[in-house]
Formats: sequence, structure tokens, C-alpha cells
Amino acid sequence: KKVVLAYSGGLDTSIILKWLQTTYGCEVVTFTADLGQGEELGPARDKALLLGIKPENIFIEDLREEFVRDYVFPMFRANTQYEGLYLLGTSIARPLIAKKQIEIARATGADAVAHGATGKGNDQVRFELSYYALEPDIKVIAPWREWDLTSRTALLEFAEKNQIPIAKDKRGEAPFSVDANLLHASSEGKVLEDPAQDVPDYVYSRTLSPEDAPNQPTFIEVDFVKGDAVAIDGEALSPASLLTRLNKLGHDNGIGRLDLVENRFVGMKSRGMYETPGGTILYFAHRGIEQITLDRGAAHLKDELMPKYAELIYNGFWFSPEREMLQALIDKSQEFVTGRVRLKLYKGGVYVVGRSSPHSLYDQDLVTFEEGAVAYDHHDAAGFIKLNALRLRTLAKRARKLA
Ligand code: ARG
Ligand code: SIN
Repeated sequence: KKVVLAYSGGLDTSIILKWLQTTYGCEVVTFTADLGQGEELGPARDKALLLGIKPENIFIEDLREEFVRDYVFPMFRANTQYEGLYLLGTSIARPLIAKKQIEIARATGADAVAHGATGKGNDQVRFELSYYALEPDIKVIAPWREWDLTSRTALLEFAEKNQIPIAKDKRGEAPFSVDANLLHASSEGKVLEDPAQDVPDYVYSRTLSPEDAPNQPTFIEVDFVKGDAVAIDGEALSPASLLTRLNKLGHDNGIGRLDLVENRFVGMKSRGMYETPGGTILYFAHRGIEQITLDRGAAHLKDELMPKYAELIYNGFWFSPEREMLQALIDKSQEFVTGRVRLKLYKGGVYVVGRSSPHSLYDQDLVTFEEGAVAYDHHDAAGFIKLNALRLRTLAKRARKLA
């Protein structure tokens, strides 16, 4: 009877809105979030009103700080990358949107939630696993899997019949699909579908091309406290303002472009282009500060677990006990990840050029090539190597016998 729709204000979700009202015959509550996608939210409110949504059923929220503080930063503590490269900008936003929808459903007495993800992708899984984890008996409506508006013509006809305004540039089919937030912009589909073909220049929206970036490097300093970035060049910034600042620096220096073929959870490979300017800088900065503050055992263990953690987020299991267990381990590892990293940004590259920390484990006296520390006796190394070599020598002897 009452459904909370994740509503962007765009043509597709406006069609979904009308479809829910007319075909499904239910009262619609819209939820529009500012996650830093770079669009005004005012028009979404106006459009919802125009489409007959009651003012008390229109929810609009600025989630930028919560998104970065409670989702992006915890994920970056693990240096998370899916399949070695993808910084999960879309994957990490879905659980937050789903959580808000459930909260609004509770507040308005709605018994259902709906999203605009297609029936072929990861996002449907992420939304719905999150809904069910938070509200086990919620009813989920996924219009793209249910309706018969399967062609562009059918969609436009439906829009016209229902007086949904269509922007002039939306009449033709969009040349590719975009999902954007403060962490990244992702583009997929249509002109990007052939992985043998280069990404056309017009697809990029968040970064200058490295060729067009300045010929002079930019140097910045990022401060960390317990694994989270807190300041740039000595200026303390909130999580969202910090990422916004890094995005600008990344944009200007052509940083964070990624052309990737990845494995979707639902089974097929897909080709996408990601721009994660600030996140890419943050990734390298965080690794820089961990280099001097993490013990080897701790560092290697969290690196081993990272692909598992990344896969859980990619597959939509943010609200699962196994993700929370790994998070506890990752957070524990960040206890001493505090200090300052100096970075050089130059034509698409991010280079750590200096790091310092009050909790540094780096001991110059221990590592120096000069005569140094008493804690390290060269003679100990001889026995250390000999015992480690024992099994290798045994194997080599057997091999020699068989030769
Ligand atoms: N493939 C990415 C993911 O699964 C992005 C999906 C959404 N992007 C889009 N352009 N529709 O996280
Ligand atoms: C979608 O299918 O809605 C976008 C792509 C994805 O979720 O993987």
C-alpha cells in the first residue's frame, strides 16, 4: 500500500514513481539523498510534487558527511580494492541509501521499498540484501524486473501518457549509464560495452586527462588519526570536506581514472570506467602512513583479508556479521595509524614522498647501512638463514639424487 522509493528526480525514477502509483496502485514516498553526486536536490522536490507526491511524503537528505565518515573511511582503512583496482565507489553507497529507505519506511508506516536498479547488475543485490538485513519482512519492488516497459520507446510513451516532463536531451537514448557520488563517478554500458574500444573523451567528468594536467607537480600533506584522514596541509577538515578537497586536487592533476573489466556478482563480466580522484589520493596516502606505523604481521594479515572484505562490499554484504567481524579487525589495526604523509601529484600519478608519525616503528638506527644498533647482531642472521634454509637444502639434495 505504501512504498518508499529511492528517487533521483531523473527520468527513469520518475517513470518508476508513476508506474508504482498507476500500475501498482500504491502511495509513494520519495527519498532523495545528496551523496555528493553534484546535482541540485531542489528540482527533485519540485518534480515529486508535480507528480502528485504529498509534501509530507517527500524526504530529502544531505548524507555527504555520514557517507564519508561511516562508509567510505571505514572501507579505506582496509585499502579496499575489488579485483585489485576498483575502489568500490558505487558499492559502498548502496547500503547507506537502503538504510535510510528502511528508516523512512518505519517513520511513515510504509510496508515496501523500491529502487531503480536493473535486473542484470550488482546494485539490485546490494539494495535488497541491505533491506532484508535491516527489515526482514519488508516488501521489495524492483520495477525493472517486473514491468513491460522494456524499450526506450515504451518508456517514453509511458512518460508522455503520464505527463512526466522529459528534458530535451533525454529524448534520445543516453550514450552510457552514470552513477556518481562524492567518492566516484562510474560509467557503464552502450558506447563502453566493447572492451576492445578506448573510452571516448566525453565520458570523463571528474578528471582532467593527465596530458592536460599541469606540467608542475603539486605537493600536499595529509594528516591521519587512527587510520582516517583529518587534515590537508595542516587544515582540519570534516570527512566530506576533506574528500571534496582531495577530489579537486585529483581532478586538476588527472588522477584516478580506471578502465576496468570486472566480474559482477550475478555472473557476467562488465566493462566500466571509473573516476575516483580524491579516493585514489587517499588510498596512496593511507598506505604511506601505514608503512611506518603498522607492524609487519598486522600489515600482512590485513592485506590478506582485504580481498575478502572487498568482495563482501562488492556483493552487497555490508550488513553481515562477517563484514562486521573483518571491520573490527581492520579498525583494531588502525590504533597507531596516526601521522603525516607528504604527496606529490603529477600528471595522473600519486607519489608518497615523505611520512612521519609519533608512533613510527621505523628505526633508522636499526636499518642504517652505517655501523648501528646493538639490538641487531649480524651473527644472529647467519643462524637465522641457516635454519630457514634447512628444508630447501633437504629438497635440493633429494632432487640431486633423482637427477
Ligand atoms: N560496476 C559498478 C559496481 O557494480 C558500478 C555500477 C553502477 N554504475 C553505473 N554506471 N550504472 O559497483
Ligand atoms: C544496474 O544494473 O542498475 C547498474 C549496474 C550494476 O548494478 O551492476
